[in-house]
Amino acid sequence: MNERDSEAVAAMLTRRGYVLADSEDEADVILLNTCSVRDLAEQKARGKMAMLARRKRRQPQLVLGYMGCMAQSRGAGLVEEQPAVDLVVGTQRFHHIPDYLDQLFRERAAAAEQYDRQLRAIVDVAEEVGSESAVREHLVVEHGDRKVTAFVSIMQGCDMHCTFCIVPFTRGAERSRPIREIVEEVRELVARGVKEVTLLGQIVTSFGRKTMPKKDGKSPFVQLLEAVHEVPGLERIRFTSPHPKGFGDDLVEAYRRLPKLCPHAHLPVQSGSDRILRRMKRGYSRAWYCRVVEKLRAARPGIAISTDIIVGFPGETDEDFEETVSLMEQVDFDQAFIFKYSPRRDTPAAAWPDDVSQGEKERRNQVLLQYLNRRMAAKNAALIGGVIEVLVEGRSDKGPRRMFGRSPTNKIVVVEGAEGLVGHIVPIRVERATATTLYGYVMGEGGDEFLG
Ligand code: 5AD
Repeated sequence: MNERDSEAVAAMLTRRGYVLADSEDEADVILLNTCSVRDLAEQKARGKMAMLARRKRRQPQLVLGYMGCMAQSRGAGLVEEQPAVDLVVGTQRFHHIPDYLDQLFRERAAAAEQYDRQLRAIVDVAEEVGSESAVREHLVVEHGDRKVTAFVSIMQGCDMHCTFCIVPFTRGAERSRPIREIVEEVRELVARGVKEVTLLGQIVTSFGRKTMPKKDGKSPFVQLLEAVHEVPGLERIRFTSPHPKGFGDDLVEAYRRLPKLCPHAHLPVQSGSDRILRRMKRGYSRAWYCRVVEKLRAARPGIAISTDIIVGFPGETDEDFEETVSLMEQVDFDQAFIFKYSPRRDTPAAAWPDDVSQGEKERRNQVLLQYLNRRMAAKNAALIGGVIEVLVEGRSDKGPRRMFGRSPTNKIVVVEGAEGLVGHIVPIRVERATATTLYGYVMGEGGDEFLG
């Protein structure tokens, strides 16, 4: 999400006449797009800004700013804490950044003439009606490469209020873009060579539910998937992040019916214990969740299932944690992101004792990570010798004449070959695998041409 928001801001600034710097050291303006979902993310952003503030002492004209969730939740407090900060822009006001930068530069020019003037920072964390449609501009090329995949923001905010989660406070209430506007953006991207889109939102499965009716039993999100599926030339559709509760039979059936929809579902489960799920206010039980996984696997054999898990939620006992371990064994996830619980301001859980010790959170984290790594390594090893369809996205950092792409199930694949491969879906023979990456070469006829 932040990558996409940053890209949109970069595209807006480029259109305004700013030029993307090749490196941070050359930049005159540095904006940190921040995440608040865990405390670690905030600490990292603060640390980075402190480093930049030191550089600013040597280079006073440097413009520094915070954007994103931490900007939204902390606002002017960030400037008080770090006076080197010139700009703080919240999650609904990104598109005003070009104007704010122009304003900062104008004020500086004026201040240079009457140098006693105190320059004030600009802080804007207002809400804005219609801001869900503001993240729409894309960079045509990124890192010197043509873009094969793109993120498309379809909705913002979340109304779920899980007890651990800060997102409803930093991203606001659910707001969705109209279907035709999204389809138009996808068409434009495809015309520029994009082959795969990832539909983005804090809770994409809630897309349109406040404003658009169901049609033939299909939720607005499934209607959107169908509309995007119609775009000629588009090869693959992904989406993130959904809520498990959004996986009704209409969405399960969409996996059966829509071949462009990639065989991968990210289903953040958070815990395997019903007691903890209730305290988290997730709105489903373990059994219900497992039933959804079964239905997806029946609808699309071979579908990859990934998840998010929080360890050390307030009140999580050894027994609760063992339930999570057993859920991991039961579902056998293809990928999982495991987080140590951290209390977030304004959330209900922050008022409860954070009673699992740091050491115990770390232990639980390691238990799950080790299990996951073993399973991922075994699953990838089983693919050696087989052939998978890879959409090649660009040059790999794993060596010259190596490209990288992704399998339909979202595995990273490193491919021997030249840049001619970029933008093509090619059959790849898997030669070698680690827990996180597959390595292979282009199969059969046509392969030589790409290798050449
Ligand atoms: N502490 C730890 N992890 C969290 N997440 C969300 N809030 C917290 C928190 N307070 C995790 C969830 C979510 C992912 C994006 O981040 O697992 O799915």
